[in-house]
Amino acid sequence: MCGIVGYVGSRECLDIIFEGLAKLEYRGYDSTGLAVVGKDSKIYIEKSEGKLSKLRPLLKNLPQIASVGLGHTRWATHGAATTANAHPHVADKLAIVHNGIIENFRELKAECEAKGAQFKSQTDTEVILHVLIDLYKNNRDMKKTLLSLREKLHGAYSLGILVEDEPSTIYFVKEGSPLVLGYGEGENFFASDALAVVEHTRKVVFLKDGEMGRMTPTSIELWDEEGTSLEREPLTLDLSSFHIGKSGYKHFMLKEIHEQPAVMAKTIQRLVDVDKGTFNEAALGLDAIDVTKIKAIHIVGCGTAYLAGVIGKYILEPIVKVPVQVELASEFRYRDPWLNEGTLVIPITQSGETADTLASLKHAMEKGCQSLAICNVHFATIPRTAHGTLYMEAGPEIGVASTKAFTSQVLCLYILAHALAAKLKHDIPVSSVMEALKALPPQVEHGIGLGPVVEKISQTYYEVQNCIYIGRAANSSIALEGALKLKEISYIHAEGYAGGELKHGPIALIDQHMPVIALCPKDRHYDKMMSNIEEVRAREGKIFGIGALGDLKFQSICQDFIGLPQSSDEFLQSIINVIPLQLFAYHVACKRGTDVDQPRNLAKSVTVE
Ligand code: AGP
Repeated sequence: MCGIVGYVGSRECLDIIFEGLAKLEYRGYDSTGLAVVGKDSKIYIEKSEGKLSKLRPLLKNLPQIASVGLGHTRWATHGAATTANAHPHVADKLAIVHNGIIENFRELKAECEAKGAQFKSQTDTEVILHVLIDLYKNNRDMKKTLLSLREKLHGAYSLGILVEDEPSTIYFVKEGSPLVLGYGEGENFFASDALAVVEHTRKVVFLKDGEMGRMTPTSIELWDEEGTSLEREPLTLDLSSFHIGKSGYKHFMLKEIHEQPAVMAKTIQRLVDVDKGTFNEAALGLDAIDVTKIKAIHIVGCGTAYLAGVIGKYILEPIVKVPVQVELASEFRYRDPWLNEGTLVIPITQSGETADTLASLKHAMEKGCQSLAICNVHFATIPRTAHGTLYMEAGPEIGVASTKAFTSQVLCLYILAHALAAKLKHDIPVSSVMEALKALPPQVEHGIGLGPVVEKISQTYYEVQNCIYIGRAANSSIALEGALKLKEISYIHAEGYAGGELKHGPIALIDQHMPVIALCPKDRHYDKMMSNIEEVRAREGKIFGIGALGDLKFQSICQDFIGLPQSSDEFLQSIINVIPLQLFAYHVACKRGTDVDQPRNLAKSVTVE
């Protein structure tokens, strides 16, 4: 999604803003720009399509001693990724940057054009600018202007605004998209993510929807949507969770794949006492939930988070003994689901800012549901909205393709299921659960150790045009996740199917040119899955098997085979099974020369619906 950085202080701001934008590159973008206020109180701006590296040489055209400025990385929603569409947008002595999407921009644009406004871009953001100009020229008071602006805009809009009448002031508005304020000494900041300001200050305020204000080098003033002044106590961030670096790996994605055993171990240690067989209910977020009221569970999420939720359904329903539904967050609220105080809604989200997931959560809470978020980012919007949060503590995930967050979410769901069952006095096989959990990190480590084997196998597949993944039960979701990983970083068309579904249509795609990646661990679905694999072989399909270490029967029918350690628990096995698929997608993408950490068209956090 778009990234915003603002600075007002006494230092030269070009590098501060530019480096802040660089910290936000992970959000995904396709153009960028920067505006500063010169010592003559005039606004100067440079913009470019493409990456920050294209903007950097243009900065020499800006006043080098400016100490008030705004920067932006744009992820295109309205209008192509061009310099004209890049932010900031400037007109009539005002400059604006925006993260979000204005749903009524067409009507507003028509109103502005009728008043003579000249547009230079195709963006909804420029429409906001002209509405702002029209309001401001009538009252010459930016606070009043912003209060009036809110009445006209429908949609999501976090804004940063410069106005030449007030050269040492920046205005900001928060609605729908994240915005955090950084409180410095003689300087102040704001950004879409604390990552962009944390090297300068750890004192931050995460704005809530409807909040807005202005900052100068020595003051920050906040008010609500009625214009009433607000006091917000800054939080002090824990720096350790902001240590971002590749630690010697070629890509963040590879680093994050390799971090999984440690994340697993830390998660188990934090949420469970494996020796006593007890659960840390506070860390699980259960202290905010009345479990006796739970009559049904609805899981909502997008993309990989949704796929973790699909596995969550397989885990939770038999263990917690209530109906569990899992739905795409972008669809959930539009079917008007039957929800009430007996429903526990579980939004799963790495970033905590995904717009569809947030909207689903709010919809469910308006219906009286209890809510327990599973999230990886403290103070993000979704955890601040839900009743309780199970923080994944997986560390920052920078690669757009989610890896350690996915396995962390599945593990958290597994532990949550057993903790809920224990709290509800259901019988659970505590000792076997604890044994399976203790064995998991080294089993995941073993899978990662097969990286060189997977890289060699990827040599055979990196030029294919299509790929099918199949699996049964929880592994049907792993098949979908493996396909999503390959699609999103290598741009190869890949689909995942439940093994039993193949013969109901997709098998028409199988021939000697169609690689099929088959997940077939030694579990209760083994025989049926082997039948599905034989159906593929009978049509000359090439099998890349992901199975049990030592399963010579399965290995003998595969063109390529990866043997993995077997967990005693089929749900934890799904975590082990996804590791070679993550590595496979990674190595195929590397061989295809794509941008592994920031794949085309994608964003790490999709904060528009
Ligand atoms: C997965 O690799 C993608 N990056 C994407 O599907 C992602 O999982 C989805 O956008 C949800 O993001 P969230 O977990 O931050 O809500």
